[in-house]
Amino acid sequence: MPDRPRLVIASGNAGKLREYRDLLSAAGVELIAFDSEVDEVGESYTDNARLKAESALAKSGLPSLGDDSGLEVEALGGFPGIRSARLGPTQTERTAELLQRLDGVPRPWTARFVCVIALAVPGRDARFFEGECRGEVVPEWQGEAGFGYDPIFLVTGTGKTFGEMPPEEKRKYSHRAAAARALLESGALSKLSASIDKRGR
Ligand code: IMP
Repeated sequence: MPDRPRLVIASGNAGKLREYRDLLSAAGVELIAFDSEVDEVGESYTDNARLKAESALAKSGLPSLGDDSGLEVEALGGFPGIRSARLGPTQTERTAELLQRLDGVPRPWTARFVCVIALAVPGRDARFFEGECRGEVVPEWQGEAGFGYDPIFLVTGTGKTFGEMPPEEKRKYSHRAAAARALLESGALSKLSASIDKRGR
């Protein structure tokens, strides 16, 4: 469909990209993956999401979506939070590091996933959309679906980890799905289509 507006997804994370392709499939936009390789130097999810979106916009000239997310464990004061991607060189080591820090801490290890989406559009201030998912971290890996910390995150009220959920089930509960819903409901993506129509493309 040549008339669909293009939207850059500023991420090199294959798991996130797969989820955005699914979550935004009905948005009427053509998604382009582009890793702007921004250092996550911000002090909040919002700062980092903005850095990713604005860097992708600057490099591509196209409307761009940046996302920052993390897992916050209550007993660790919200750690690893915005440092979730940097606990170790591989996800297996990151998961092991988190579980090691929780060793000896009484359960349940109440936690939440948070996702902030930044939408950067030429000539406008960035807009932000947030979602969360509540649950608890469990000590044993359960399931192999998803990515990141999915196999050790038990979702409240489901009896399952994200690792045990197929994509269509994860999207009912996930922090990223909630943020994407807020983005869709804001109408911001429909405005991208409208502005293309006005330019007569
Ligand atoms: P960032 O948003 O690129 O900084 O990465 C956040 C990190 O949090 C990822 O590397 C994952 O390990 C983790 N994370 C974020 N969202 C999810 C999710 O939906 N499932 C599992 N892990 C996630």
